[in-house]
Amino acid sequence: MILDGRDPAAVAAAAQALRAGELVGLPTETVYGLGADAGSDAAVAKIFAAKGRPADHPLIVHVADASGVDAFAREVPAFARQLMQAFWPGPLTLILPRRPEAGAAAAGGQDSIGLRCPSHPLAHALLLAARGLGVQGVAAPSANKFGRVSPTTAAHVQGEFGDSLLVLDGGPCEVGIESTIIDCTRGAPVLLRPGLITREQVESASGLRLLGKEELEAPAPRASGTLEAHYAPNARVRLMEGQALQAALDVLGRDFDGGKATIAVYARSILRVPSSKVLYRRMPDDAAAAAQQLFAALRDFDARGVSLIWVEQLPQTSDWEGVRDRLQRAAAAA
Ligand code: TXA
Ligand code: MG
Repeated sequence: MILDGRDPAAVAAAAQALRAGELVGLPTETVYGLGADAGSDAAVAKIFAAKGRPADHPLIVHVADASGVDAFAREVPAFARQLMQAFWPGPLTLILPRRPEAGAAAAGGQDSIGLRCPSHPLAHALLLAARGLGVQGVAAPSANKFGRVSPTTAAHVQGEFGDSLLVLDGGPCEVGIESTIIDCTRGAPVLLRPGLITREQVESASGLRLLGKEELEAPAPRASGTLEAHYAPNARVRLMEGQALQAALDVLGRDFDGGKATIAVYARSILRVPSSKVLYRRMPDDAAAAAQQLFAALRDFDARGVSLIWVEQLPQTSDWEGVRDRLQRAAAAA
């Protein structure tokens, strides 16, 4: 059931549902989340069951404001505080040492916990209302079945989990890809998942060099958002340089009838598309705009029965890192 988030009664109903240990679909500025009371292991177990996600994959806990971290984090290093000040509320998740008594199920058994304070006004209103009912944090992975494309509208969430789930509608997500994740448990910030907030922004706010996952001695936990093959539409995704993409289109030629494969092309370049059976969609030139549309575009290709998506390679600059990461992983799933 989709509830219009502009109605205060809808927010109150969603907060009550969380308090009662039920699941709620909620908007954030990045993607929609599938939320449950992080303080209830039984409620959190429903998330893993609904998503079909392995129970040792940790979830992110969402808090109403920076003071909310104290219920879950055992300590907050100074550089993590600086990151919170610079980017919260916003699309940044911090991995912090966990209080042993808090959020064990949400953390998937890790002794650390992922915390994020989202900037979407409706997420904020819901987190505040839930806190008023004693819910200190809301565990919420992206509201999609395990391995699939994250949802950026309330209708996407309903499509994943059906009409019995209460979904708060907060409109299409502004950021469009999941939060940047920084591990703050290792003395220096470590980038676990790229997002809208870039390496340079993290380094300038923390005053520290950002390490990559590959620089860690003890590996980060296996986690869905960091698996090599993830974020996959039904169609197979291939990344190609613009020239190779044009050459492949030229080979298809005018006679291509889409009989064996429906092909979609998603490119920033202007290409000559020989056959009307090829679905051609321009990707925005701006990284943030491309991120905002990315998952909806992949879902749209699936809905049109596309079996192959040819995507033009993305710029190597750091503003594109989040989009590059998601598409490389979508391509690895093929
Ligand atoms: O933008 C987002 O982050 C969205 C919205 C709903 O907030 N949430 C999201 O959650 O993407 P999810 O569950 O799909 O991704 C959570 C990822 C895990 O796959 C893992 O990479 C990381 O967060 N994570 C969470 N807790 C962790 C921990 N204790 N240690 C290491 N990684 C952790
Ligand atoms: Mg996810």
